[in-house]
Amino acid sequence: VFEQELAFANELVERAAAIALSYFQTELEVQRKDDLTPVTEADLRIEAMIREAVAERFPGDAVLGEEGGLGGTGERVWVVDPIDGTKNFADGIQIWASLIALTVDGRPMLGMANAPALGERYDAVRGSGARLNGRPIRVSDVADLSDAMVVSSGLKHWCDGPRREPFRELVRAARRARAFGDFWGHMLVARGAAEAMLEPTLRVWDYAAVQVIVEEAGGRMTGLDGGPLRDGGSALTTNGLLHEEIVRRFREVEGVA
Ligand code: IPD
Ligand code: CA
Ligand code: CA
Repeated sequence: VFEQELAFANELVERAAAIALSYFQTELEVQRKDDLTPVTEADLRIEAMIREAVAERFPGDAVLGEEGGLGGTGERVWVVDPIDGTKNFADGIQIWASLIALTVDGRPMLGMANAPALGERYDAVRGSGARLNGRPIRVSDVADLSDAMVVSSGLKHWCDGPRREPFRELVRAARRARAFGDFWGHMLVARGAAEAMLEPTLRVWDYAAVQVIVEEAGGRMTGLDGGPLRDGGSALTTNGLLHEEIVRRFREVEGVA
């Protein structure tokens, strides 16, 4: 299932990589969006290319992109983050990816995260497992926090506010903790190199592709409160075995009864 869509997504991320790499580690112009987050010409060109390609290949499908919003209607929506990790991209750091998901009736069924500067392409189709560069990946079987590698988005997000204490305690309890953010933190969990990834705020284009890959690799992805992912809400990805324990640590500050 979704064989044609998977082949199409592979074509899209290859074209996206060619565009992105032509800007990467050059003097590129970074603009600020209304929400003050950065965007480059590469982000805009990639998303425009994907919109055109979908309109040509699957004219009945809609596209929801970070830079241009929703175009079209229908139960099938291609959800696109042209460059996830734009700050890294703009700083010449290799941790960025193009994220593409196909959602059907709101459920992500196919996910792809292509990180050409890392040489890593992750993909998954619901029910068919997850792969890194074509080889199956699987979450770890670490069941104790004291053996776990915990990764997170930027540390500034965790320095203040109600999540600070549970975060500190989690870091203390873990074997290692690093802030390897963006899509990559979740992919490290999916491939068993880390056990948990925490993120305070994600939009749907940040998590749709990631969620299919994580779940097909045997992991779990929810809000920090243990509930379903929400546009603009927090995210917790784990190998599954550590999920309840981490949710429990945040329960009080997430307002869960
Ligand atoms: C960012 C990443 C990051 C999240 C930020 C997003 P961008 O996306 O998804 O993980 O913490 O909230 O803005 O702007 O690099 O696509
Ligand atoms: Ca993003
Ligand atoms: Ca982006």
